Amino acid sequence: MTTADPSPVVEFTGVSLAYGDFTVLRDVDLQVRPGQVVAMMGGSGSGKTTLLRATTGQLQASAGTVKVFGRDMASLHGEALRETRQRMGVLFQGGALFTDLDVFENVAFPLREHTHVSEAEILDRVLDKLQAVGLRHAAHLRISEISGGMARRVALARAVVLEPELILYDEPFAGLDPISLGITAQLIRTMTDQLHCASVLITHDVAESFAIVDRVYLIGQGRLIAHGTPDELSAAKDDYLQQFLQGRPDGPIGFHYPITPAFEHWLADYRKGLRA
Ligand SMILES: Nc1ncnc2c1ncn2[C@@H]1O[C@H](COP(=O)(O)OP(=O)(O)O)[C@@H](O)[C@H]1O
Ligand SMILES: [Mg+2]
Repeated sequence: MTTADPSPVVEFTGVSLAYGDFTVLRDVDLQVRPGQVVAMMGGSGSGKTTLLRATTGQLQASAGTVKVFGRDMASLHGEALRETRQRMGVLFQGGALFTDLDVFENVAFPLREHTHVSEAEILDRVLDKLQAVGLRHAAHLRISEISGGMARRVALARAVVLEPELILYDEPFAGLDPISLGITAQLIRTMTDQLHCASVLITHDVAESFAIVDRVYLIGQGRLIAHGTPDELSAAKDDYLQQFLQGRPDGPIGFHYPITPAFEHWLADYRKGLRA
């Protein structure tokens, strides 16, 4: 049987991303298809969150095209952009919850903001999502009463409560103990399979993400360094890739934060200040 690949949920073609005159990434091609969990990996400051911002349309590509659900993000404005964003769930880095609301109300929040479903339906849907992350019986707790690992799972339930077609997770493992980390990784896989959505997992955790993802894109040195299945990448010879995968301190990945025009402007201004 030959089935054509389903069309990508996210497709970058020749994309460059910049903040003012500082280009973070050049010439990136990538695709994420329905049902896939795709990891975007790279060292800190390599541009992972920047890729996420380009996907949600918070940042426009300075070259190339970013398509989400087949629509060019650069062409979307106002209501069309809002509608497109509503089809995405985002778990932001740090995943801040509302500390003055309980667990239930945190997860209910997107339903109250973006839909007109009844209170009875809200109760069903929120408990269902809390069940999926193992926290149904924590619905009544205040955010100050739950652990960091539990908070991440609440944020996960909130990110999926509108049953998005695309979920973007920015460093969902940061600061978690090994058990919570494993649970969170498995949940990302299960949620993707259950909702048959596409998931983008931004992380630098190699072991945990390689266990659950379909494909990996590695960025560094301002470009896409490698992509493939976890097995393909583990077998590849590239020095940068192997240094990243093995977490070795010596190799082509530098320790120093790269020089940028913004730094040079700042230093020039600072020196000017000294002379004044
Ligand atoms: N709003 C911004 N304005 C200017 N530079 C930024 C901004 N956000 C991020 N950067 C810079 O862009 C680069 C990539 O950042 P980011 O995408 O946050 O990296 P990562 O998520 O991989 O750690 C870094 O050098 C960072 O300092
Ligand atoms: Mg980041």
